[in-house]
Amino acid sequence: MSPASDGGALERARALVRPDALRASERTDAGYLDLLPDTGPPRSTAAQHAMNNRLVAAVYERIWRPVWTAAMGANGLSAGDERAKAAADLRLGGEQRVLDVACGPGNFTRYFGERLTGEGIAVGFDLSRPMLDQAVRSGRGPRVAYLRGDARRLPFDDWTFDAVCCHAALYLVPEPMTVVDEMIRVLAPGGRIAVMTSYGREHPLLRSALGLVAGTLGVRMYDRATLPDAFAAAGLTEVAQQIRGVTQFVSARRP
Ligand SMILES: C[S@@+](CC[C@H](N)C(=O)[O-])C[C@H]1O[C@@H](n2cnc3c(N)ncnc32)[C@H](O)[C@@H]1O
Repeated sequence: MSPASDGGALERARALVRPDALRASERTDAGYLDLLPDTGPPRSTAAQHAMNNRLVAAVYERIWRPVWTAAMGANGLSAGDERAKAAADLRLGGEQRVLDVACGPGNFTRYFGERLTGEGIAVGFDLSRPMLDQAVRSGRGPRVAYLRGDARRLPFDDWTFDAVCCHAALYLVPEPMTVVDEMIRVLAPGGRIAVMTSYGREHPLLRSALGLVAGTLGVRMYDRATLPDAFAAAGLTEVAQQIRGVTQFVSARRP
């Protein structure tokens, strides 16, 4: 899809990026804006390595994600249910600016974009080139654009987005609480945030067993309190948490 035929979405997303983050060597030829042209992705854990594998990226949405979700305790939600829940938690619609952090192959970003109107835009943000290549291949639509960057340093001004989402990534990114702080920083007053991540259970034995398996793969297990507490400490309100199997959904609103 050429820049013109994506409805100008990539240009509109580019306009949201802080000028100091727009580097001369940024690439748009791959269909997304690459803000990290010179650096390779971190590959220190099995989980991170998988996220940078072309084969995983190609089968992620149809096979990898459903299998992984089931393995995380059959949280009972289909992929479609999970997307609908995210959209509902974010109160998505209209001309909002939506940021999908660690968007992978765009499985949520595309859905969000379809729910927006007019000047609304869903920006998918990820570190992995294979994932973003796959996202572009899967089609963008007029209100979807992708950026490549590191979520630990989001290249946007404070209060840029009306909704910020991060599903299935906080358990594998390095420095996840820095990512959470960044997501909150770019959230506009009245805006909503929604995350889905792991839940390590409260029972000490189960918790250590899960922690052992997860640690080997490079996946972090969260307790019940960390994310709701971080949202509340940042001054967010309407903090809501739903636990399903070994996953948790946490959402909140910036007053
Ligand atoms: C399991 S996928 C999640 C994709 C999608 N959000 C979903 O719910 O299916 C995790 C994504 O996090 C991305 N990721 C890991 N570390 C990141 C970072 N520091 N900044 C941006 N994205 C990162 C990976 O490249 C991968 O695409």
